[in-house]
Amino acid sequence: MAELNLILLGPPGAGKGTQGERLTSKETLEYVVTGNILRAAVKEGTDLGVQAKAFMDAGDLVPDELVIGLILERVRSEEAAEGFVLDGFPRNVAQGEALGEALGELGRDISGVLLIDVPDEDIVRRLSGRRVSQSGRIYHLEHDPPKVPGKADDDGSDLIQRDDDKPETIRKRLAVYHEQTEPLVAFYEAQGLLHRFDGTAAPEEVEAQLRKTVSSLRLEGAI
Ligand code: AP5
Repeated sequence: MAELNLILLGPPGAGKGTQGERLTSKETLEYVVTGNILRAAVKEGTDLGVQAKAFMDAGDLVPDELVIGLILERVRSEEAAEGFVLDGFPRNVAQGEALGEALGELGRDISGVLLIDVPDEDIVRRLSGRRVSQSGRIYHLEHDPPKVPGKADDDGSDLIQRDDDKPETIRKRLAVYHEQTEPLVAFYEAQGLLHRFDGTAAPEEVEAQLRKTVSSLRLEGAI
């Protein structure tokens, strides 16, 4: 079967993580979530985590020299041989160029870039209601609540609120998205790789639309 190499693009809180989890639960694709890798490094207190923390707390991007090598290593790994879903990378044009170059050296291509779009005014409300379990499962107090308030469905552990989900940091992350990440929309549109999705629809509807596109990309790759 042809490999499938996908990028999930969109503003903070668009639903990249929600949809990435759903898509990769039924596909043998390596799911690379840059934010989770960085948050784990912060929690473990590694050199990377120590350097990344201040940028993340401020809602800024972590410098390219810390992020690019880290993610390209995952793309080149055995686990990603059948394909990957990148969530949170690339996040600026320099990262997009580095990814294109690395894939070119491997004789591989990006199959598609899935842009989940949600207007700014919905984002602050969404992210303020987000809660995350120890295992990384994403909930929302209104749209996707756990069965028992404050507890994860799978292991009953306490749900937490991310440090960067405070309204002032969310607004900073949105500004950074528009300034640094949004240029990737034109970058990938010019390469004929961009597919747009309305992220304001219900999660199940967004998932159905994404799956339709992923199926046709798989078919195209197989031809
Ligand atoms: P990261 O963790 O990647 O955060 P983000 O891109 O800001 O995205 P989020 O995880 O906040 O949102 P999401 O789109 O995954 O939405 P979710 O599914 O959770 O990055 C964090 C930080 O790390 C960055 O600020 C930066 O510092 C650093 N970083 C990361 N990558 C980097 C890179 N490449 N270079 C440099 N620095 C980097 O959904 C949000 C909420 O909405 C949830 O509660 C969910 O339940 C709910 N929801 C989802 N879908 C729907 C729906 N359709 N309707 C209603 N509610 C919904």
